[in-house]
Formats: sequence, C-alpha cells, structure tokens
Amino acid sequence: MSFYSNLMSKKRLWSPTMGDKQPVMPGSEGAIGRCLALRVLEIPVGNWVMETGDKELAKLEPDAIALLQSNAEDEIKHDCLLEMATDTYQLTTKEMQEEADAIAAEWLQHPDHPIVKAFVLENSIFFIILPILRRFGGQGLRNAAFDISSDESIHAPCNRKVAKELGYSFSPSLDELRDRTVRFLVRDLNAPGKLGRPQVWFDASENLLHKGFAPQLEETKAYIMPAFFESHAADLPQYS
Ligand SMILES: [Fe+2]
Ligand SMILES: [Fe+2]
Repeated sequence: MSFYSNLMSKKRLWSPTMGDKQPVMPGSEGAIGRCLALRVLEIPVGNWVMETGDKELAKLEPDAIALLQSNAEDEIKHDCLLEMATDTYQLTTKEMQEEADAIAAEWLQHPDHPIVKAFVLENSIFFIILPILRRFGGQGLRNAAFDISSDESIHAPCNRKVAKELGYSFSPSLDELRDRTVRFLVRDLNAPGKLGRPQVWFDASENLLHKGFAPQLEETKAYIMPAFFESHAADLPQYS
C-alpha cells in the first residue's frame, strides 16, 4: 500500500454536531476564543491544496491526488463544526476576530507555495489549536477537536510529503508568521498544569514544524489522534 493510500484507508466518517455549551478550564477562555477565531483559515487551506497546478499534480502518483481532493472536502466540515462551536461558546470577541482575520490575511498573501502554507499551518498551528481545545475545552470542544484531529492527522503528513515531493520548503518569513500566529493564540493562557503556560505551546509549535513531533505534548497523547504524534520522526519527511 502506498504512503497516500495507507493514509486514505485511515479516514473515518463523521458529521459535524455540537451540543450545549460545557464549562471550559478557567484561564483558557481567551486562548479558546482565539483558537476558534482562526477557523477562518480552514477553507483557504482546502483551496490552497487545490491551487497546486495540474502540471505539478501530474508529478504525483494518482493516490496522492485522490487524497488531496478528499482532504479539501474535509475542510468544509471543519469550518462548519468550528463555526457551530464559536456560536455556542461565545468566547471569541470582536477584537479577537479582527486580529485573527488580519493574521489569516497574512497567510493568504504570503508568497510561499500554497501546499507549503497548508502543511505548515496543519502541522504546527492546527496541531496546537486541536490539543488546546481538547485539553481545556470541556467535553463538547474535546469531541469536536477529536473529530477534526482524525482528519488533520491524515492531512498534515500528506501535505508535508507532497510539498517535499514537489521540491518545496518553507521560507524563514513563513516560519516567523507561524511563530507570531501561535503567540497570538496563547498569549494570555494561564490555566492549571504545565500545559497552561504559553511558552510550552510556542516551543511545541516550533518542534512540530522543525522536528515533526513535540515532546512538550507527550502527556496530551491521550487527547490527540495517535496516528500523527506517534509517528516516529524518521517516518516523516525531513527538512533542512
Ligand atoms: Fe481542517
Ligand atoms: Fe486540513
């Protein structure tokens, strides 16, 4: 089975549902509000993947193209579920949303290749957002993050490998935008436990991008789909 068809075989079907608002961990309200505000990047990620031109797609095996198309469709469900969560939890202020929109615009305008932007966002921003929702968000957001993680644990290694096969990597300025984005998300996080401090998430995001795994998030393994985090670093495409 190819790398891509193996990932495709791990997809599970789910539908967006959101129950009543559940209590979130005190001190995490702002971080959760801003994580939900960044949902505006879900649809663009799907679009970026499909913006990879036909000439470039022709260099990939058919399994890869089928998986990319299926992944882009998943983003519509993610957007829908996160929109429901934002409406239910009411933790995203107007100011947070404006700031998230401005950050999203920077990602949209950044000149790195669309597939690179997709893999950097999914590997090192969405895999910060999802563990935050699962760790601090109570049962309702934990369930939502579980469903989305089950897709993203397929998207992230797929886009990373496609970028490598096409010969693209990220620029220092995209890395800097990644760092600023994670700082925006968790800057006022002040919740109980080691993961309740912003620095842990800054470091985890950097490790996820540069090493392919984040030792800081070891203890959250139970909260995250194992397919991604339990991958041995050697199995992930490497970047110099
Ligand atoms: Fe997504
Ligand atoms: Fe995705």
